[in-house]
Amino acid sequence: MEQRLQKLIAASGFCSRREAETLIAAGRVGIDGRVAVLGERGDPDVNSITIDDKPLSRAEPHCYLLMHKPVGVVTTNRDPEGRPIVADLLDDVQARVFPVGRLDYNTSGLLLLTNDGELANQLAHPRHEVDKTYLVRVRGRLRREDRQRLEQGVPLDDGLTAPARVQRVRSRGSHTWFEIIIHEGRNRQVRRMCEKLGYPVSRLARISYDFLTLGELEPGRYRHLTADEVNRLKKT
Ligand code: URA
Repeated sequence: MEQRLQKLIAASGFCSRREAETLIAAGRVGIDGRVAVLGERGDPDVNSITIDDKPLSRAEPHCYLLMHKPVGVVTTNRDPEGRPIVADLLDDVQARVFPVGRLDYNTSGLLLLTNDGELANQLAHPRHEVDKTYLVRVRGRLRREDRQRLEQGVPLDDGLTAPARVQRVRSRGSHTWFEIIIHEGRNRQVRRMCEKLGYPVSRLARISYDFLTLGELEPGRYRHLTADEVNRLKKT
């Protein structure tokens, strides 16, 4: 069946639909021996589709993983600096999964990985407003007015942040621990929000993603989502 190329690439499990659009725009996708353009459609039964000159493989069964990402690992599938990548932690997974969204190198916590480009695309879309809870440790004592600013919106270079919730605030010595729940997924968002208000972040961990939590999962370990969890995510 003929479909937009980005949809077809996502369905193959290569990457998310948005990432596929970037690949097409960068001229890395070919169709029948020429460079494909954004907006083009194709049919894997009829056309020869390539990424970086390698044939696009056909769709594989969907795989959904929940990982406890440790600090010191990057969430991309390739790192120009040669640092460890999350895929290095997968020992018994044949599917070519990719991370849903990302966590910084120095952030630990709950990371979803899948080869289901459609679901990844759905979850990453701002319209879906998936709640994500982060446990944060900042230097300094969080003042009441700054807590309110975090909750009401912090003006960052890329605009005002959406309303957030701050809970379980406790100060220990020269640090404050708290949880912040946000639904946006901007780059380094929590760190930038705190830094903007004068609080450098010394620890950051994502402890929940929508209804999913880390449970007893140790850093570096992962588990498959249950069918029920996958269905609930699809309804988000
Ligand atoms: N906010 C950040 O600052 N970093 C992350 O990794 C996730 C959210």
